[in-house]
Amino acid sequence: MKIDNKFENLLLNVSSRAALSSYYQVGKKNKFAADEAAVDAMRTELNKINMKGKIVIGEGELDEAPMLYIGEEVGTNQGPEFDIAVDPLEGTNFAANNLPGALSVIALSTKSNLFNAPETYMNKISANVREKEVVDLDFSVKKNIDNLAQYKNKNPNELSTCILDRPRHRKIIEELQNLKVNIKLITDGDVSGALLVTDKKYNIDLFLGIGGGPEGVLAASALDAYDCFFQGKFIFDTEKDILRANEMGIKDLEKKYELKEIISGDSIFCATGVTSGDLVSGIKIQDNEFISETLITHKSSGLKKIIQLKQTI
Ligand code: FBP
Repeated sequence: MKIDNKFENLLLNVSSRAALSSYYQVGKKNKFAADEAAVDAMRTELNKINMKGKIVIGEGELDEAPMLYIGEEVGTNQGPEFDIAVDPLEGTNFAANNLPGALSVIALSTKSNLFNAPETYMNKISANVREKEVVDLDFSVKKNIDNLAQYKNKNPNELSTCILDRPRHRKIIEELQNLKVNIKLITDGDVSGALLVTDKKYNIDLFLGIGGGPEGVLAASALDAYDCFFQGKFIFDTEKDILRANEMGIKDLEKKYELKEIISGDSIFCATGVTSGDLVSGIKIQDNEFISETLITHKSSGLKKIIQLKQTI
């Protein structure tokens, strides 16, 4: 089933309003306030849309999040049924400290087509590759780099990778360094990191490493529209995580998920800049209007572009 194109604009409005709300908290050193502002606005806008929406990736469980919790129903309860993944403020540190790269992110799919990801870490890999077995989570760093270099007809030292700057990635980073691969270390924001493989202009051939599972699912939705490669493997290393996985019916805790197992069918993805970053520019205010920039994709309509919007505040 295809999602009606009218939902493109509706979702664009949701993420741009959430970004605007959060923008007022930029540089205020309070990541919770910045997040809360985005959550509040996103929920208000979602509830105006004629749909039966269900949050499958959100701000946590009902007992820990009053708004946009997993399982919350949004929309007017009239219209098509959708599963919705939200990260109202991706890069809370970026917003709190007025640093580049904070985004408001949302993805919507036809019912039951978006993986209900637990809030655990996920080992991820993305590349602009159509074929299987060029890159793979199960391959060594060297094999991934060698294969990708061959696939792109480049030398390994001409390849660029993106990875979160975390102690857990020390070994991977060392290996990349030994292979003379260019490394873009990001301090936060791996939705954006994973999407840098989508277009030559970002000059990233491979994204890899461990980050948030929900962020992985959101990125997968856009990567699907770009026909890119993505794999993710959830990491269940605490008792709480294992219990949660069991509750969610995840039997194989070691399973490596292919993109199509994370997102299938039709979907729309929107990421609006709160502060300017690699993908999009941040919010700009002019008198009683604001300008937002959103990366939007819609799988079935083939839409994949950055849209600048001027709206009344
Ligand atoms: P927040 O927006 O929730 O602060 O997440 C930012 C982020 O960098 C994500 O992009 C990434 O997936 C995750 O945090 C990584 O987690 P950690 O900081 O624990 O390594």
